[in-house]
Amino acid sequence: MTAAESVTVRVHAKVNVQLAVGAARPDGFHDLASVFLAVSLHDEVTATPSDGLTVTCEGRDADKVPLDRTNLAARAAELLAARHGIVPDVHLHIAKDIPVAGGMAGGSADGAGALLACDALWGLDSSREELLEICAELGSDVPFSLIGGAALGTGRGENLTELPVGGGFHWVFAVADGGLSTPVVFGEFDRLTEGVEVPEPAASKVLLDALRTGDTTALAAALANDLQAAALSLRPSLAETLTAGTEAGALAALVSGSGPTTAFLVKDAESAETVAAALIASGTCRTARVATSPAPGATVL
Ligand code: C5P
Repeated sequence: MTAAESVTVRVHAKVNVQLAVGAARPDGFHDLASVFLAVSLHDEVTATPSDGLTVTCEGRDADKVPLDRTNLAARAAELLAARHGIVPDVHLHIAKDIPVAGGMAGGSADGAGALLACDALWGLDSSREELLEICAELGSDVPFSLIGGAALGTGRGENLTELPVGGGFHWVFAVADGGLSTPVVFGEFDRLTEGVEVPEPAASKVLLDALRTGDTTALAAALANDLQAAALSLRPSLAETLTAGTEAGALAALVSGSGPTTAFLVKDAESAETVAAALIASGTCRTARVATSPAPGATVL
């Protein structure tokens, strides 16, 4: 086998169309029923042979991306190399377009992308199961970044069941100034639910049906995020963004994952442009991006 010169992988962002959160577990994680949907915003990770393991990043928020071993792309290369008893001599370059610390699994996407890119670069030909195992070790959202499409995540979000999607959906994402830390948002969820009986998280049948039939109106009515109250408590100004998008004609609005990106489900591509322009004009967000779903899993270009 001839060694590749470099491998580039495209990997998409996600929105949770439902995020049901249970009580904190003894290990600090929360059991979830998380309905992931991949959307067209994406990063690209390029792996090139190098001396040692290095990471670079380009894109609007590149300065906010850690370039050390805390970057999930670097950790993915290390974990894969360790499993195969090889040295992770690779340079990873991330072309970043997914909002950083935005609740859209941008860091997880880079982890899944780097894993697939290194696997191809090193000619390892790992099975999907092996890659998914490493993804789960990297973080709760990383397995979904690898597979894309739509899936129900249970456990801490890493146990995936693929879901059928019967049509395309149009979205607008309002990018906030600054990020929110996922553990801090879960901590706020714990604070807000103290003394309250938190039900077992369960996927909504109505929502799964809406996805399966590609019914935008039904999906809009079923969108739900149990972390939304916590994100709004930490960042009250997000309420103004949600209102601005709804007033501009979005069918529904919610916080994406742990936030602070807000997601707006819209009727069609034209409505997406209208809502995005209104959100930008409202001054309640840094920028707004249009997107479609579903999107594929991590793919070698
Ligand atoms: O799995 P990941 O490293 O992405 O999780 C980041 C943090 O988010 C965890 O350390 C935990 O505080 C919180 N989390 C959680 N329950 C989950 C997933 C994440 O409490 N199911």
